[in-house]
Amino acid sequence: MRLAKEIARHDKLYHDQDAPEISDADYDSLVRENRALEERFPHLIRADSPSRRLGAAPTTVLAKVAHSRPMLSLDNAFSDDEVREFVGRVRRFLALPADEPVVLTAEPKIDGLSCSLRYERGRLVLGATRGDGTIGEDVTANVRTIRDIPQSIADGPDVLEVRGEVYMSKADFEALNERQEAAGGKVFANPRNAAAGSLRQKDANITASRPLRFLAHGWGELSEPLATIQLLAMKKLEALGFPVSDLLKRCETVEEALAHYRAIEKARADLPFDIDGVVYKVGRLDWQERLGFVGRAPRWGLAHKFPAEKAETTLEAIDIQVGRTGKLTPVGRLKPVGVGGVMVANVTLHNRDEIERLGLRIGDRVRIQRAGDVIPQVVENLTRDEPRPAYVFPDHCPECQSEAVSEEGEVDVRCTGGLICPAQRFERLRHFVSRGALDIEGLGEKSIAEFIELGWLNSPADIFRLRNHRSELLGREGWKEKSVDNLLSAIEAKRQPDGPRFLFGLGIRHVGIVTAKDLLKCFGTVEELRGAALSEGGEAELSSVQGVGPVVAEALVDFFHEAHNREALDDLLSEVSPLPFVSDARATEWTGKTIVFTGSLETMSRDEAKAQAERLGARAAGSVSAKTDLVVAGPGAGSKLKKAEELGIRVVNEAEWAQIVAEA
Ligand code: IVH
Repeated sequence: MRLAKEIARHDKLYHDQDAPEISDADYDSLVRENRALEERFPHLIRADSPSRRLGAAPTTVLAKVAHSRPMLSLDNAFSDDEVREFVGRVRRFLALPADEPVVLTAEPKIDGLSCSLRYERGRLVLGATRGDGTIGEDVTANVRTIRDIPQSIADGPDVLEVRGEVYMSKADFEALNERQEAAGGKVFANPRNAAAGSLRQKDANITASRPLRFLAHGWGELSEPLATIQLLAMKKLEALGFPVSDLLKRCETVEEALAHYRAIEKARADLPFDIDGVVYKVGRLDWQERLGFVGRAPRWGLAHKFPAEKAETTLEAIDIQVGRTGKLTPVGRLKPVGVGGVMVANVTLHNRDEIERLGLRIGDRVRIQRAGDVIPQVVENLTRDEPRPAYVFPDHCPECQSEAVSEEGEVDVRCTGGLICPAQRFERLRHFVSRGALDIEGLGEKSIAEFIELGWLNSPADIFRLRNHRSELLGREGWKEKSVDNLLSAIEAKRQPDGPRFLFGLGIRHVGIVTAKDLLKCFGTVEELRGAALSEGGEAELSSVQGVGPVVAEALVDFFHEAHNREALDDLLSEVSPLPFVSDARATEWTGKTIVFTGSLETMSRDEAKAQAERLGARAAGSVSAKTDLVVAGPGAGSKLKKAEELGIRVVNEAEWAQIVAEA
């Protein structure tokens, strides 16, 4: 739609160039017009339509910075029992005796955006947003305008990275919106959006005019430890001049932590800022170190979220979206309704069974809920007993008309069109270039759709042949020499992609970025992985990889057995050379070695031992073979120990293993 394009252009002028061409009132009427058109012609809604965007995410062009230590996220819990289980997991991982207390800290989870502040020899040298956790945006000039953030500190470590939340208070948010409205400026959906929009500005003067605050909740790189326990480390940060929550509390037991959760929940409405839960952290920092991380979240922390906010509205339509694996996902279009400060117009309905379970029909009144960042969902149908015809789930793909089927025992309905299905092709390409995969900047949905239509893009390999169409592209509307060359050089820059991102980008079912890393940690390259998947007994070998189970193993075997997948991969590998996997663990003499743990361990759990091996760059395997480099045997070791002895593999006991870890 031309109108959506026009709106996107104004968005860009407003956010990226700070040079709006039209008043906000005119802008709003464009958006309204677009919405009215979309209501009449829902099949024409563009994927990048402004109405699909939730909240206002300013897309400023800020410089990128790599974090010295990744900025991670937290696992969520929604019930007391999940919190008790968390503490249980901590106990098991550390193999703690039953009477050893696990002291926790509990503090509010602030609904802002996380920020890392780096001080070198006492001076603030860098402020960065979280970004994807590895690479964030440089907001140094912006954070310098925030009064809560000290420009310099006395008596701190030489290198100190303070991490915390930039936020806006509820009162400041209301006042800002009033001012914005009066001045014909942009009105923000909620304090979080206002904080993000205010911090991520190219022009720091705009940030300076916005009432931003900061609360510290942790740290990144340090040249020396702050303390030995979480609480004292936070007190140290406070003494250095950083605001720390006054609701931060040391809790002796999990029940005490849960009581503090309830106290914070009670105080929530009266707090000056928005919070969406309580964060628990293991108090002892040496334990935090041992617990380490799994995927993108620490084993030593947990976010206990407040119950979801609910609202009622009408289900106006059910659209079917076709994903990259062909899955048909029903999406409910709602009469827009505010839920916890955000307007919600779409909900995922998950699958056919979910629609049946709720007895959903177009026109029903529904209760929806939204918990934190989770996609809103329908929790209840309020008009179940009205006699109207049931919704019929399509048995053909709405995009390519191929038959849509569900496999035995599976709830999902899938399009059987494979690569002939334009939706699947589009989604696969979009996934391949997305931020978590190859991250090709400038190759957005719109361009992908355009190139598919032109017949230039069928498979991922074609992306690397787009340069052959340079002159044709230059002749097309909307493409200037600069934008074409930027795109082509962004593509060229990815001829040697990161291995796990490349594997993840292939879009194999169940293979997320963490699994992709686990797989390459073991196999090194995608070719090796393919070899294993196609070899006899490959499925069993794959499912023995740490972090990989039978479901992933089966998906890999299925994927590599499809001839067209192998062809597409070969084609792609003729264009690019993914880098062999480099573990983020330290390089040690154990890097690349295979270690097997057997028998019982006394000072640590099996999981901790495996995590230690991984930190040394080694792989922990489940069975002993000629490829095994070391066996760590505890009391009760049986057949594995015997086999190791037969094969002449080095065997050590638990104490010797601890020595190896300490020395490596
Ligand atoms: S601790 C390893 N404490 O929540 C990450 N995070 O879901 C440790 N957040 O990205 C984070 N309040 O931006 C921590 N009191 C708090 C927090 C908090 C808000 C944010 C933080 C993080 C996200 C994780």
